[in-house]
Amino acid sequence: MSKDVYLTGITTTGTPHIGNYVGAIRPGIEASKDLTTQHFYFLADYHSLAKNEDPDKIKQSTLEIAAAWLALGLDTEYAFFYRQSDIPEIPELTWILTSMTAKGLMNRAHSYKASVQANEERGSKDPDKGITMALYSYPILMAADILMFKSTKVPVGRDQKQHVEMARDIAQRFNHHYGDVFVLPEPVIGQDTAVLKGLDGRKMSKSYNNTIPLFADEKPFRKLIMKIKTNSLEPGEPKGTDDSTLFDIYKAFATPEETQAIAERYAEGIAWGEMKQLLFEYLNEHIKPARDEYERLIADPGAVEAELKKGAERAREISVPYLDQIRDAVGIRSLG
Ligand code: TRP
Repeated sequence: MSKDVYLTGITTTGTPHIGNYVGAIRPGIEASKDLTTQHFYFLADYHSLAKNEDPDKIKQSTLEIAAAWLALGLDTEYAFFYRQSDIPEIPELTWILTSMTAKGLMNRAHSYKASVQANEERGSKDPDKGITMALYSYPILMAADILMFKSTKVPVGRDQKQHVEMARDIAQRFNHHYGDVFVLPEPVIGQDTAVLKGLDGRKMSKSYNNTIPLFADEKPFRKLIMKIKTNSLEPGEPKGTDDSTLFDIYKAFATPEETQAIAERYAEGIAWGEMKQLLFEYLNEHIKPARDEYERLIADPGAVEAELKKGAERAREISVPYLDQIRDAVGIRSLG
């Protein structure tokens, strides 16, 4: 059996936060140390266009996300680390796949359906109001990302599972027509990767505006931790660890022994203020070395650019010849 190929994309919107770190960056970097499998991580900047962000914000987010992965120690000699827009074969493949994709399949995408539903609830006459073709065919671009590198396993959050299944459907339909060109991918949903809650107790997410940036400066970082929602139990009153955002965040970073010790402090009635200070100090210690490296990289964007260019060069050693083969399969061929 050939090696499993893991591939995952990170949309370049927003600043990396501790939920991204625990849910995607840390497990990604850990997994990439397994030399019996291959790993592709890339910045999905073309996908970010579908979110209608300000151009400067897209650039800044690209820099911050790339710097975060590098500062946290992704080994780019082994893992492939690149920016989607540096691989022109991806949009080319997107068009080829678009030609093969049933419109009905896209009609069924959850994110498109949610936008239509929102329009209907608002009483809009046009159910497609404000919906771009980028939003509508987002899953096809994602299928090109996945199929371009013969990925077998695609680690994603639950909300992206359907997109990976669509990539598989599209590949299957293509193979049926043109022969065995694509490898069929499958989604991998992290069962035990923690999903952190944010400041307000809902899932930490840039769309809820409740995040704690991973590399915020010490002062704002402390301030945000002090804002995390707790219940109103007084100091000295025993506290449960279920449903405590402070506890969950601590647990996501600490060893099982340290977590056990904190659970005991909860039972003894630790004051929320003290727990917040303790969490701040713990996280700050944990993050500081990477934060220093992150700041160095943010101040030297040329170094980050060079890393991404190097990654693209390596990735294109695969995508260029493979796209030739795909073009040939569909009849885009040299005449002589
Ligand atoms: N759509 C994904 C998200 O929003 C990001 C993404 C783009 C991706 N291309 C991908 C994930 C390919 C996995 C594989 O999270």
